[in-house]
Amino acid sequence: MVETPSPAAPLRDKRVVLGVSGSIAAYKAFEIARRLEDCGAVVDVALTPNADRFAPAFTFRNLVSGDVAVDMWATDVISELHVEMGRRADAFVVAPASATTLAKLAQGIGDSMLTLTALATTAPIAVAPAMDARMYANAAVQQNVEKLRARGVLVAGPARGRLASGREGLGRMVEPVEVVGATRALIGRHAGDLRSKHVVVTAGGTREAIDPVRFVGNHSTGKMGFAVAEAARDRGAAVTLITTQEPPPGMFGVVIRRVTSAAEMKAAVDERVAGTDALVMAAAVADYRPVEAAEQKIKKSGSAPTIALEETADIVAGVEGKLVKVGFAAETEDLVANARKKVEAKGLDFIVANDVSEADANSGFGTETNQVTVLDRDGGSEQLPLLHKYDVALRILDRIAERLPS
Ligand code: C5P
Repeated sequence: MVETPSPAAPLRDKRVVLGVSGSIAAYKAFEIARRLEDCGAVVDVALTPNADRFAPAFTFRNLVSGDVAVDMWATDVISELHVEMGRRADAFVVAPASATTLAKLAQGIGDSMLTLTALATTAPIAVAPAMDARMYANAAVQQNVEKLRARGVLVAGPARGRLASGREGLGRMVEPVEVVGATRALIGRHAGDLRSKHVVVTAGGTREAIDPVRFVGNHSTGKMGFAVAEAARDRGAAVTLITTQEPPPGMFGVVIRRVTSAAEMKAAVDERVAGTDALVMAAAVADYRPVEAAEQKIKKSGSAPTIALEETADIVAGVEGKLVKVGFAAETEDLVANARKKVEAKGLDFIVANDVSEADANSGFGTETNQVTVLDRDGGSEQLPLLHKYDVALRILDRIAERLPS
């Protein structure tokens, strides 16, 4: 039996201070804390006294493996806890960030464990504002947000949607999964090995129209490409994801372009690829498409129609320039020989090959894990063990990083 690898932990070895301020959205900070821990981070929580009333420190103590600080005058905690939490942090994330806390952060006021820790840290800071839309639109709040942004603080959201008052507007905290995405982007941009690099990733299977309701497609779900996009973002790259499938939530910071057909994907890649450092073609692009798509739905007529196909243009083969080009090959026979031919024919730096011939629950289309062989342009090959797609993505990015000028 194949052993399932342990889950991906994008925040392994990272320590995050979660600052929680007084807002109804504070209850969502429980989920943020839990999700950060699930990503492998050790989370410390710094609450304002108002936040403690919305979302008590007691609950956070049961959710995180780090410290939970609320009372500046507590005698049972180590002295200078704010300095200690600030010093060991890889990121300081304030979610939700109330209007008052944004003002204090902008001014450098330290009157709570949250604001003191913000002053004591040199870690990168992100804020996720949450308040009524009119409050957010207030000139004082806007100025404070701008001041923080100018100082390099990452401002995540707010989103438009239903507010605590029952009204709609711009002021809702971004979803917990996006706050986690923002934390990962923040850490990557600050210390990742791909910061200042631009990576274009394609994902999903293309759909080639037969008529307005039918298409020629394939089983690709986009998961491998999404994992590459997330992992590149986590390592600090600016990422453009060109995808036929809806990506999962949490892609904060990734620029997403939706396309359907091979021709649309080619146009999007050609448009975005200038000046990029790497192109990772994880998409399963149709090799053939119907010569013509019928304008109206083809009716049943008693005799089956013949659909004439033509070849699509090869996207990756047509991309020129100094960028690192990575292809994928899903094969059902002669995996290595067929994949190797494609490295040559498409001018790739390397190709990631996987065998999709066996109905395998651990590898291939739609699975969480993948077992691949990487074939280099210079003839080298490496068979990777069964890994989570995120970890496969990290291995691919290691190879890209080796090929990029530092
Ligand atoms: O379909 P095939 O096995 O040739 O795909 C190998 C690689 O080439 C994949 O990375 C795929 O994204 C890319 N490809 C492409 N344009 C096509 C077909 C495939 O860029 N028209």
